[in-house]
Amino acid sequence: MASEIQIEQAGSVLTITLNRADKKSALTNAMYGALADAIEQAAHDDAVRVMLLQGEGDSFTAGNDVGEFAAIASGMHSGERHVHRFLHALAKSALPIVAAVHGKAVGIGTTMLLHCDYVLLAEDAELITPFVNLALVPEAASSYLLPFRIGHARAFEMFALGGPLDAQTAVAWGIANKVCSNQTLRADARRVAEQLAEKPAGSLRAMKRLMREAEALISQMDAESAVFQERLGSAEAKEAFMAFAQKRKPDFSKIAQR
Ligand code: COA
Repeated sequence: MASEIQIEQAGSVLTITLNRADKKSALTNAMYGALADAIEQAAHDDAVRVMLLQGEGDSFTAGNDVGEFAAIASGMHSGERHVHRFLHALAKSALPIVAAVHGKAVGIGTTMLLHCDYVLLAEDAELITPFVNLALVPEAASSYLLPFRIGHARAFEMFALGGPLDAQTAVAWGIANKVCSNQTLRADARRVAEQLAEKPAGSLRAMKRLMREAEALISQMDAESAVFQERLGSAEAKEAFMAFAQKRKPDFSKIAQR
C-alpha cells in the first residue's frame, strides 16, 4: 500500500504529498505524525532548503478525519495526538514552505496554508473552514492569523458559515499568491520552490523568523487546543460527527446553548 504521506527530495526541495485519495486525503493521527516527523527532520537537514506541500487525488485535503474526531469525543482514542506536534513544527519552521492546492482544502487544509509562505491555488481550489458547522472552534492559530490576514468580517463569515472561498477571491484577500490552471499547478509550484532554493538560505530563514513570531503562534495554538478539546466532548459535536457518519444534516435545535 502506498504511504499516505509521501516524502520525496529532489535537489534541495522536499516535497510532501498528502496521499489518501479515497478519503479526500482526510488527515489521521498517523498522517499528522508522519508530517510532523518530515518537518522536524527537514529543520536539521542542511540538504533541504525549501518544503513543498501538495495533495494527490481530487482534493488537497478534507481536513481532520471526522471519524477520529468522533473516536476522541467518545474517549476511544488515547495516546499522543500528533496534530499538535505537526502544528508546532509548522509554526516553528524557518524553511520557506510552498503549497500547491487543488480541489477542496477543508479545515486544517486551509488553516495550514496560513503557515505557508507561498501558496498557489488551482482554478478549482476551494478553501473551507467548517469548524462551527462541526461544533468546534478554529485551530492552528487561525483564530488570530485569519482575521489578521483578511479582516474580522471576512474571517468571521468563513468560520461561522463555513462556505467555500474560491481561488480568485482567496488571492484577492491575501490568503494565497496566485491562481494557476490545474494542469500546471505542480510545475508552477515546483518552479517557485526551485527559485526559492537558489536564494541565500541563511537570509531567507532570518527573514522568515522576523516575519513570523513562532512563540506567539504556538501560544495561540495551545489556547485554541484547550477550547477545541472541550468542544470535542460537547453534545453539539457528537451530533455533528454522528450526522457526518450518517450522511445527513446535523440538528442542533434541541441542544441547549452553553
Ligand atoms: N474525514 C473522514 N472521512 C472523510 C472526510 C473527513 N474529513 N472527508 C471525506 N471523507 C470520506 C467520505 O466519508 C467518503 O467516504 P466513503 O466513500 O467511505 O463514504 C469519501 O471520503 C469521499 O467523500 P465524499 O463526501 O463522498 O466526497 P464529496 O466530493 O461529496 O465531498 C467534501 C467532499 C470534502 C466536501 C466532504 O467529504 C466533506 O465535507 N468532508 C468533511 C470535511 C470536514 O468537515 N473536515 C473536518 C474539518 S475541521
